[in-house]
Amino acid sequence: MEHIQQALDKYRKSKQPEAKVATQKTKKFPDEQAIVYAKTKVHAANQEVMKERRVVSMLKHDPVAEVFRMLRTKVLKQLRENNWNSFAITAPTQGAGKSMIAANLAIAMSMEVNQTVLLVDLDLRFPKIHWYFDLQVEQGLSDYLTSDIPLSDILINPEGYWLSGIKNLENDIPLSDILVNPGFERLVLLPGRGQVTGSSEMLSGPRMKSLINDIKNHYESRIIIFDLPPVLVTDDVLVSMDYFDAALLVVEEGGNKPEEVTKALRMLSGTQLLGTVLNKSQAMPDHQGYY
Ligand SMILES: Nc1ncnc2c1ncn2[C@@H]1O[C@H](COP(=O)(O)OP(=O)(O)OP(=O)(O)O)[C@@H](O)[C@H]1O
Ligand SMILES: [Mg+2]
Repeated sequence: MEHIQQALDKYRKSKQPEAKVATQKTKKFPDEQAIVYAKTKVHAANQEVMKERRVVSMLKHDPVAEVFRMLRTKVLKQLRENNWNSFAITAPTQGAGKSMIAANLAIAMSMEVNQTVLLVDLDLRFPKIHWYFDLQVEQGLSDYLTSDIPLSDILINPEGYWLSGIKNLENDIPLSDILVNPGFERLVLLPGRGQVTGSSEMLSGPRMKSLINDIKNHYESRIIIFDLPPVLVTDDVLVSMDYFDAALLVVEEGGNKPEEVTKALRMLSGTQLLGTVLNKSQAMPDHQGYY
């Protein structure tokens, strides 16, 4: 843990204080929000199953839920101070706990009065947000991204990486069809499904860019959280960096070497760093820490 802390301190010292970047002013569209909610499917998640999967931030008297509420407050403070409304969660390597933290943080944020949240599963290779909310997903983000691809594009593609989209060729899936309200007021999920190859091409493609524009314009008063793959394993994080204002880095104690943390921080230098969450730490009874 000391080594990881040293890597973080070194990174902080090396980074010049950055001017606060003011993005679009957050506007409220209460009527539009109400309309979008009316269209969104509701699948009330089974909270007992969620608890077994470590999603607990909806619990009132729970020490781990308390940690997530603290994390929520710190992150929201930074977002509001900078007028940011989107951030991504990533980690140096696989299995650090990104999706578990994304699910907990999304619930904790949506429990703030007047704060609506959209949680997007941007991990097209191993989507897992639906598992944390115990949802059966019929159409997910990759279906949406491949739903308007013409047959000619598939036939000429030598890699064959659009194959997962074939069954949706005839349907241009509307965004509202893939959004789900998991039974928490003010929280909407854009879940993933299955596994795709060629994820970075999908993420950097025009359909994805237009989706990002749609969710930012239609859900302007919302916080958008993106659950990403690990930054050192794929270029998916780099190709999606324009989609969010800042990033939260999850570090797995015992699972990540200091060099990996340093490298991950370097890779994330193209975005603002909200902070680092130390997960699976034996030094902390609740297994999570925030810097
Ligand atoms: N604090 C924790 N203590 C114990 N187990 C944990 C903790 N956080 C996560 N896990 C477990 O670690 C595994 C990986 O968690 P999760 O899927 O959230 O990680 P991830 O970083 O999103 O993984 P991937 O890189 O595959 O997307 C899961 O089995 C999860 O239950
Ligand atoms: Mg994950």
